[in-house]
Amino acid sequence: MLTMIFACDRNNAIGKDGDLPWRQSTDLQHFKRITLGGTIVMGRKTWDSLPGKLPGRRHLVMTRSERSDIETTSFDEVLRLAETNEIFIIGGGEIYQLFMPHIGRVHRTVIHCVVEDADTFAPEINSEIFSLISADFTTRADRDDYDMTFELFERNQ
Ligand SMILES: NC(=O)c1ccc[n+]([C@@H]2O[C@H](COP(=O)([O-])OP(=O)(O)OC[C@H]3O[C@@H](n4cnc5c(N)ncnc54)[C@H](OP(=O)(O)O)[C@@H]3O)[C@@H](O)[C@H]2O)c1
Repeated sequence: MLTMIFACDRNNAIGKDGDLPWRQSTDLQHFKRITLGGTIVMGRKTWDSLPGKLPGRRHLVMTRSERSDIETTSFDEVLRLAETNEIFIIGGGEIYQLFMPHIGRVHRTVIHCVVEDADTFAPEINSEIFSLISADFTTRADRDDYDMTFELFERNQ
């Protein structure tokens, strides 16, 4: 199964200037809880935005360049891996768009804000294809900029 996980503002914005447009510690904990122990797939630009490897997860990076310093993957390999394991597509915009037709589950965190001049967006979640399973509103904690809602969608059978 392919699972997509992202955080977006009210307009589906996910990034600005190569980075996340908010400081949202509670969402990072949520991301860790869901992906820990699993395989995470990301675009090279998202890899570049990370401080390094996130502990306890296999990292697969999509790039069109030859790289020996990171484990790279391809579209076909990701689909093959997803036949036997839950694989997490963790961004960014290009990679979400690429895998959207094959996604079975989406963890979306809506950050209750509107980002000015955002430059990267998540794909829309089509309500004829996905059903909202749960939505949990969470008030901002000390190390969060905004309130947020954790949503789970599953592809209709
Ligand atoms: N809010 C969130 O949940 C969230 C999550 C993740 C990322 N983000 C944000 O999203 C932004 C980055 O997203 P982005 O869309 O600019 O870039 P991206 O999707 O992270 O990476 C794009 C790169 O992926 C590679 N790629 C794309 N399609 C490919 C294919 N078919 N085969 C092989 N490689 C392929 C290319 O790498 P090469 O150029 O090396 O060939 C391309 O430049 C940042 O602002 C980041 O902070 C937000």
